[in-house]
Amino acid sequence: MIFQKPSLRTRVSFDVGMQHLGGSALYLGPSEIGLGKRESISDVTRVLNGMVHGIMARVFGHEDVLEIARWASVPVINGLSDERHPCQAMADVMAIREHFGRTQGLKLAYIGDGNNVASSLLLMCAHFGLDFAIAAPAGYTLPQKVKDAAAPIVQRNLTTFSEVTAPEEAAQGADILYTDTWISMGQEEEAAERIATFAGYQVNAELLALANPGAVTMHDLPAYRGKEITDEMMDGPQSIVFQQAHNRLHAQKAILARLLGGA
Ligand code: CP
Ligand code: NVA
Repeated sequence: MIFQKPSLRTRVSFDVGMQHLGGSALYLGPSEIGLGKRESISDVTRVLNGMVHGIMARVFGHEDVLEIARWASVPVINGLSDERHPCQAMADVMAIREHFGRTQGLKLAYIGDGNNVASSLLLMCAHFGLDFAIAAPAGYTLPQKVKDAAAPIVQRNLTTFSEVTAPEEAAQGADILYTDTWISMGQEEEAAERIATFAGYQVNAELLALANPGAVTMHDLPAYRGKEITDEMMDGPQSIVFQQAHNRLHAQKAILARLLGGA
């Protein structure tokens, strides 16, 4: 497990998941291997090829995880990059399916930054038949690249994708209100500007009142309570936030069994 950034859920779920499946996991933090600094990505990967059965990597630039995959002879799992967070989206769809008993025909409204988590959610929603709406301030919506990747899936599965600036508009008819931090790892220097820009993009009781009856709130965590989400929306009866976090373990085990299980 190569980590260029901090982690609670990803690290613990992959480590414990490997133990449950009879394997073991090794944590390589930024100070241990200096990926791309002490040693090139290609050299690190070619060494690991002969020592491990799989590589999970959390990186800054998305091209770094692609570079690992380019050199790897073992499966490579993206444990979050600046562009995507697929393992999170897999746990999320599991939580949605557990709660609603289905995914088809539901609407997920994502409130906030069009970041890595939002990008993977758009793709997940398109694959599993959910309509996806994002409410983001101008200049902070999803990158064109992910919209282009999602477009054919949206079309094939007859789902919808919409982008608006008003959270109230996205929340209309939603079954899920989902949010993430306004300041992702690596964006700390933009904190003041982002806090000002995203004020108003909060998942709170007023916003939930506009969603469908029985709507739930979700957050990938870590959450900045009082910023993108209120305590009430994290801890209330409509929250599936912790079920979502727990499902990281199960979803990650499924990924490991599929990629390393040998079946
Ligand atoms: N949601 C998530 O990936 O959490 P960590 O950053 O703690 O792994
Ligand atoms: N968007 C957040 C997700 C953290 C799990 C980040 O990249 O920091």
